[in-house]
Amino acid sequence: MSSPQIIVIGSFVQDLTFRCAEFPKPGETVIGQFVSGPGGKGSNQAVAAARAGGQVAFIGAVGRDAFGAGARAFQENEGIRWLVAEKPDRPTGAAGILVNGLGQNEIIVSLDANEALAPADIDAHADPLRAATVVVTQLEANLAAEAHALGLARAGGATTILNPAPMRADFDPALLENVNILIPNETEFCALIHLLPQTRATAALGFDEQKLATLSEDLLHKLCREFGLETVIVTLGARGCLVSRPDTYTLIPATPGIQAIDTTGAGDAFVGAFAAALAEFGPGEIERAARFANAGAGLSVTKPGTAPAMPMRAEIEALLSR
Ligand code: RIB
Repeated sequence: MSSPQIIVIGSFVQDLTFRCAEFPKPGETVIGQFVSGPGGKGSNQAVAAARAGGQVAFIGAVGRDAFGAGARAFQENEGIRWLVAEKPDRPTGAAGILVNGLGQNEIIVSLDANEALAPADIDAHADPLRAATVVVTQLEANLAAEAHALGLARAGGATTILNPAPMRADFDPALLENVNILIPNETEFCALIHLLPQTRATAALGFDEQKLATLSEDLLHKLCREFGLETVIVTLGARGCLVSRPDTYTLIPATPGIQAIDTTGAGDAFVGAFAAALAEFGPGEIERAARFANAGAGLSVTKPGTAPAMPMRAEIEALLSR
């Protein structure tokens, strides 16, 4: 593999997924079907970027166990360069996922080895990080290590992307200092409004997802501007996404006619495809990359699972030309 243009720093998690018609209520047992597969937001995004045509490396941490060995085999088979630290005293991360008949999901994730990713593990790959075109991270591994990676990448001139998922109580706004492009979903956007000092006045008005749903595109863009970042892309589920840049914004509608059977990992499909497109099209082509990513996310929900559901580049191109 030639030098990776895209580096994803983040989680690998083994997904333990149960499908059922309706989510069980507290105290209730329901009959469902079980499948286990590779997941974790970081790894899913790396797979999505590789399938979308990117040269990708993945930095993370796994345990010395069967899930960790399976992760490596899976990623290498996807053509991803494996720059992962092994943590012998921690198990590989795992997630319990419920998917109901509407394709909605509920997830509990145990970070385990991902939490043990250390700044020193990042330093071991400082050269590729400094040389990368696009560097992506989320909030599902050790936050100090991810902050360190963003700093190295930004100093080297990469475009840095943060997907603030899952939002965490220990999120430090300083993590945004080295971020060029922030990609939150609606839940994460609202959480950020309440966490960031610069949006305190909006938070005090009781901002929540219901209020977000009623905002005009213009007002949503103005709120995005309060974050003080170059680019904010809010993913809006079935509505598509809003791309907010300093002087302009664009609402990119979701692809029509998509039948969702499992929405787990749709955000990861968006972020990974976006990273691949941005690395290829160039940093000035953010809206074009977001259109490509929208199509990737739309396709990912038509298949079950997370990483295995990430679409190939030819599928995305076919959907875009439809
Ligand atoms: O975004 C979906 C992912 O979140 C799943 O693969 C699961 O592992 C959780 O981390």
